[in-house]
Amino acid sequence: MDLLVIGLRLVHIVSGVAWVGGAALFFFYIEPTVTALGPDGEKVIDELVGRRKVPIYFAVASTLTVLGGAILYWRDSGGLQLSWITSSSGLFFTIGGIAALIAWLGGNLLIPKTIGELGGVGAEIKAAGGPPSPELMGRMHAVQEKLRRIGLVDLVLLTVAVVTMAAARYI
Ligand code: HEM
Repeated sequence: MDLLVIGLRLVHIVSGVAWVGGAALFFFYIEPTVTALGPDGEKVIDELVGRRKVPIYFAVASTLTVLGGAILYWRDSGGLQLSWITSSSGLFFTIGGIAALIAWLGGNLLIPKTIGELGGVGAEIKAAGGPPSPELMGRMHAVQEKLRRIGLVDLVLLTVAVVTMAAARYI
């Protein structure tokens, strides 16, 4: 029984589930809810980001997934042996690993920044009082659209990672 590998696999897979599940929930439900609420969506953003620190959840889950995966990758590839990397299983783990790494970078840098921009425009609307001006609404829609596009790319990359990792051993 290899307790180290079992532990690494547990960390890798459990945090991967938390990361990908959270990203899907955010993309399919939370972000559309915030958009539908218009200027009131700022309250949801405030609660989720300011008080409940959702970006920390994603930072911890994604970083544990990537760290666990990187150690497993190093072990499985015998210290990055090309013969393993270029085997069909190795290629699948490599493609999934690269997709997840890009999602990790983009998700942790771009998504919190864009959510911050959304909160900023929401705060401006609140400070201006009354119905929001067309200029402010235009900015709000532009940031919402940007967040949706980043979320979509993130989810596509994560889906590539899940599918390739799940199939790699049996390819
Ligand atoms: C969204 C991100 C990821 C998800 C959901 C994910 C999911 C999984 C799953 C379900 C397995 C088990 C597959 C099996 O045993 O047949 C696995 C294994 C593996 N993953 Fe990932 N993974 C992710 C990211 C990464 C990254 C970034 C790397 C490397 C840098 C990586 C490297 C590996 C390796 C080497 C294994 C084989 C572990 C072993 O020897 O048991 N993964 N992954």
